[in-house]
Amino acid sequence: NKGHYEHYMQKEINEQPESLTTTMRGRLILRGSSKSKSVLLGGLKDHLKTIRRSRRILFIGCGTSYNAALAARPILEELTGIPVTMEIASDLLDRQGPIYREDTAVFVSQSGETHDTLVALQYALDNGALCVGITNTVGSAIARNTHCGVHINAGAEIGVASTKAYTSQIVVMAMLALAIGGDTLSNQARREAIIDGLFDLPNKVREVLKLDQEMKDLAKLLSAEQSLLVFGRGYNYATALEGALKVKEVALMHSEGILAGEMKHGPLALVDETLPIVVIATRDACFSKQQSVIQQLIARRGRLVVMCSKGDASSVSPSETVRVIEVPQVEDCLQPVINVVPLQLLAYHLTVLRGFNVDQPRNLAKSVTTQ
Ligand code: UD1
Ligand code: BG6
Repeated sequence: NKGHYEHYMQKEINEQPESLTTTMRGRLILRGSSKSKSVLLGGLKDHLKTIRRSRRILFIGCGTSYNAALAARPILEELTGIPVTMEIASDLLDRQGPIYREDTAVFVSQSGETHDTLVALQYALDNGALCVGITNTVGSAIARNTHCGVHINAGAEIGVASTKAYTSQIVVMAMLALAIGGDTLSNQARREAIIDGLFDLPNKVREVLKLDQEMKDLAKLLSAEQSLLVFGRGYNYATALEGALKVKEVALMHSEGILAGEMKHGPLALVDETLPIVVIATRDACFSKQQSVIQQLIARRGRLVVMCSKGDASSVSPSETVRVIEVPQVEDCLQPVINVVPLQLLAYHLTVLRGFNVDQPRNLAKSVTTQ
């Protein structure tokens, strides 16, 4: 049931404040009279000790689920101190990459039925790793065959392009980082800030959804283009990949997510006054580096759209030629949840304007269960 929406993708983008609330329900706890804040993931509590002892955490997934894991990787590394490596399921299998008993392998999949992810799960089980699932589908193959895991509880997702599952996956993995990372005195303030940020995140998503008309206007400007680049780094490298994936899979427009730190090693050659480029430059430890990326793109007459934190328009847009999207600022590790929303809206409006099928893009399936 699409309610008053025209497409499932549109409905699912707009229901993210509610799906995120459901994802977090019962899992963020205020304890005792001091109201100390903590995270409780019921599906993991008996396995946390083993996970903490592991030598490495591997994130394994395909498509949007892989991007969600990439978005959560920095906070997992920060709070746990355990090296985190990223694996696209098919690539791990192509290489037969080494996996050991001392590894924790985390399988991320909305459907829980993706063929490559399932084969990678079997491979990790055969190699003796602790296997953890993060899925939206209770009773799915991944939920059944992993040793333990977390259901993201985002509700059924119908649109082939994943939207609300992506943001719920990131939130679950941020909670995973809090659960694995111990409660030490030195990281207490950081943990509390993240938990407060999680509580407030649905409100901030509600706020960023108000950019709908602005993103529709931007889509009008870009709808006849051949190509769109998206530059991000740090917490928002994943946002660049996911924004580009949305544009490519539903709007059928060539789009590439680019790690801004790699700009000078190739992508800069593409920059001219015609190719549209989105640069994600919200406030975090990488902000000044992104400011310098923007300056270099402007120096080469790049056609820029900059996403920045509210109030930062003048810091990121020294010239009138740059179009700015201002988004609410949240705790840095949660910012990818906010920043992806305007890009989801952009992909949606581009698709409608270009006259393509929103919910069932050509050649794609919601879940790829065969090789
Ligand atoms: C569980 C209940 C939830 C109830 C809550 C009350 C289910 C599915 N969930 O939620 O309805 O409100 O207790 O405390 O009945 N698992 C895997 N692999 C996966 C995902 C999950 O093995 O990929 C396992 C978990 O380790 C756990 C079980 O499935 O044993 C349920 O996981 P989850 O729904 O995340 O647990 P809770 O949040 O505790
Ligand atoms: C398909 C879907 O390619 O599978 C994508 O079209 C999705 O939207 C990918 O991200 C992975 O699916 P899942 O269910 O394993 O998260």
